[in-house]
Amino acid sequence: MGQPLKVLIVEDSEDDTLLVVRELKRGGYIPVFERVDSEEDMLNALDKEERDIIIADYAMPSFSGTAALNLYKERNLDIPFILVSGTIGDDVGVQAMVNGAHDYICKSNLCRLVPAINRELREAEIRRARKSADHALRRAHDELEKRVQERTTELALANAALKAEIEERKRVEKALRSSKRELTIRNRISDVFLSTSDESLYGKVLDIILEAVKSESGIFGYIGEDGALVCPSLNGRVWENCNLSEKQIVFPREKWRNTTWRKALREKRSYITNGPVPVPEGHVPILRALTIPIVYRGESIGVITVANKTTDYNDSDQKLLETTARKIAPVLHARRQRDIQEVRRRQAQEALKESEEKYRSVVEESLVGVYIVQNGILVFVNRKFCEIYGYAYEEIVNKLTLYDLVHPDDRHILEEGIRRRMEGEKTDSLEYEFRGVHKSGKVIILKGLGRASFLQDSPAIMGTLIDVTREKTLEQQLLHAQKMEAIGTLAGGIAHDFNNILAAIIGFTEMTRGRVREDTDVRRYAEHVLRAGTRGKDLVRQILTFSRHSEKELKPVQLSSIIQEPLKLLRASLPSTIHIKQEIMTDSLVLADVTQIHQVLMNLSTNAAHSMREKGGTLGIRLSDFSFSAPLDAPHQDMAPGSYVKLSVADTGCGMNREVLKRIFDPFFTTKETGEGTGLGLSVVHGIVKGHKGVVTVESETGKGSTFTVYFPRVEQDSEVLAEIDCSIPRGHERILFVDDEDMLIEMGKHVLEDLGYEVVPKTDGLEALSAFQEESSKFDLVITDQTMPYMTGTDLAKELISVRPDIPIVLCTGFSELVNAESSKAFGIKAFLMKPFSVQEIARTIRRVLDGKSESAQVNR
Ligand SMILES: Nc1ncnc2c1ncn2[C@@H]1O[C@H](COP(=O)(O)OP(=O)(O)OP(=O)(O)O)[C@@H](O)[C@H]1O
Ligand SMILES: [Mg+2]
Repeated sequence: MGQPLKVLIVEDSEDDTLLVVRELKRGGYIPVFERVDSEEDMLNALDKEERDIIIADYAMPSFSGTAALNLYKERNLDIPFILVSGTIGDDVGVQAMVNGAHDYICKSNLCRLVPAINRELREAEIRRARKSADHALRRAHDELEKRVQERTTELALANAALKAEIEERKRVEKALRSSKRELTIRNRISDVFLSTSDESLYGKVLDIILEAVKSESGIFGYIGEDGALVCPSLNGRVWENCNLSEKQIVFPREKWRNTTWRKALREKRSYITNGPVPVPEGHVPILRALTIPIVYRGESIGVITVANKTTDYNDSDQKLLETTARKIAPVLHARRQRDIQEVRRRQAQEALKESEEKYRSVVEESLVGVYIVQNGILVFVNRKFCEIYGYAYEEIVNKLTLYDLVHPDDRHILEEGIRRRMEGEKTDSLEYEFRGVHKSGKVIILKGLGRASFLQDSPAIMGTLIDVTREKTLEQQLLHAQKMEAIGTLAGGIAHDFNNILAAIIGFTEMTRGRVREDTDVRRYAEHVLRAGTRGKDLVRQILTFSRHSEKELKPVQLSSIIQEPLKLLRASLPSTIHIKQEIMTDSLVLADVTQIHQVLMNLSTNAAHSMREKGGTLGIRLSDFSFSAPLDAPHQDMAPGSYVKLSVADTGCGMNREVLKRIFDPFFTTKETGEGTGLGLSVVHGIVKGHKGVVTVESETGKGSTFTVYFPRVEQDSEVLAEIDCSIPRGHERILFVDDEDMLIEMGKHVLEDLGYEVVPKTDGLEALSAFQEESSKFDLVITDQTMPYMTGTDLAKELISVRPDIPIVLCTGFSELVNAESSKAFGIKAFLMKPFSVQEIARTIRRVLDGKSESAQVNR
């Protein structure tokens, strides 16, 4: 295949152009040509595209080969330019080649064209190749030049660095040599800091420093917590040689005066003084000194002063010590911190110990019992706790549970607390009241407060206990007393009116009975009315008894003899299933009202018999002496030390539970069926015993029986023994002034007294009575007057009567609620009192006693 060839042909003749093209084709080229024949066309053609070759004619009408060659040269093109002409001679041709053409060919010898083109194309190729090689070479050269330049600069820099390094090495080596001494000192100091834990450290460090700067004396101190300078070491020799009155080692800030170390510490800079330093008298002379502050994080924390080197201190000494101080600073700081912490730790420990002791004594001396329970066991109890239960510490701790110390009947109270907590009740602490059991077996009432907590990381219950047995008993007694008081007041109020009514009923009935024959209905009805009236009277009397409003006659009596009467009665009335066991161990005397003692024994025995009515049993009646001297031995807190007569009524009956036991002394409390019991029996016992300054206690166990014990104070003197009970009704004929404002009672009194044989002058008010008496006082043997009357009370009347006739005997009738002072009344001459309602027998006996002059021996009390 032929070689394509882009040809620019500069030729005016088309034919010649074709000739050239044909020649090229023949030579093996595939010519792509453009023909131009003017300068303008040639320039356009050259601008348009690149050519492989330019073939130009020499002579043309409007252009020329020479002009074309010039254009070619202007363009500086590196493609072959061949001149083809029919007219050209060798001289023109050579000249053209000199001017830049590559060859010239005659049109006649056109066969030379292709070889010339071949050659010129090759050469042009070679030229281009060479040119490109030249170019590459130049570039390589330039690059090399640049690299050499760069390397040279690098080398220069490296050289400079090396020089600097060598310089630095030399400097460091020098410094190293000079600091070797410092290093040794530092190491020695470090060792001291590490190995010395006490204040001797400062002395040891100072010795190293003194040796290093060849100095005789020095100080090394630190700033203490309070800002004072503390110098545990002023190196031994200073103190030894100093002759100071006080050799202090602590320098409070305000005493720093104008010392060099003060300046050093304040200004945080070193001071060299190569000359004598002013010192206090007696101090070793300081000829020269060097002072270095120890500064840590901008704060002066200590100071080193060295003195009396044989030569002047110099920069090197200063530098050495400054470096040493810099190195010491953090260690000294750490050391100070450690010391401060150590002091604080010790103080804290001491405070802890002290507070521990305080707590211990608070707990141990506490007036409440303190306990801790862990895993159910009591792991701690205080002294009071042991005291409450009567056990020794060792007998409780790690041996007993709290349950062991609780009365079996009350364990549910603690269980309930635990259950409530388990059910999630959010209570901080639980308050309990329960019965505990003392080591002696005695039941005690305790109030406890317990809370769940932690002890040494495991759950614990901590609590306190107080013994409230005494308070509880007192509280119950107070409650009982208050109740009695209230009921007494109430009952007393009713009883007053009742008594007047009953007095009339009983009086008139007695009179009715006396006036009818025995075997008549009226007589029987009257008996019934009398019995009912008497029962009513008894009831009122009982109420008055338990509320202690009743009148009683206290005489020294032998209990042993007066209990015989009711015992006889009892024996007769009890079923044969009940056996009576009687133990009379004493004949001691007590101050007692016989009727009331009968009543006590009857009430207690009836209750005892009632408790045994189903199964039978033994009724034990025991009378014995009892005495105690230590208040703690008192069977009841109301009992003072002394001698007593003890009457116990014991049964083997049904006993009582706690609830019943709590209320038995309450008036109207009964467990009997309605109508069976009034519930007044024990209230009356209580009232009577109290009235006798005695005490009644009870012990009972359900199913086993009860024991009631009455303690009466014993009377030591051997006085008269109770007279025989006399059932007769004494009579008389004297003249009696009878005063009462109630017509009904006047009428009744008149009849009763006249029945007894007396002559009666009745009066319905005090003034009337007084005037009758004033008229003829000598005609009256006795005055019986009511207390409560309009215009003038009984006592007022009595006073008036006595002023008229001092020896006139007066009997005063009172209801329970009338406040008559027996003692003062007696003092001005009232001889006796009659408590309404009174029976015929009572009034008959009182009248006789007064008239017969026995009133002095009769004790009348309210
Ligand atoms: N020895 C005893 N054994 C068992 N229970 C007793 C005994 N003594 C008293 N009680 C209980 O005390 C309650 C009160 O006694 P109290 O003597 O005051 O009244 P009462 O006996 O019920 O009635 P009343 O005495 O009028 O017949 C009785 O109902 C009984 O429950
Ligand atoms: Mg009873």
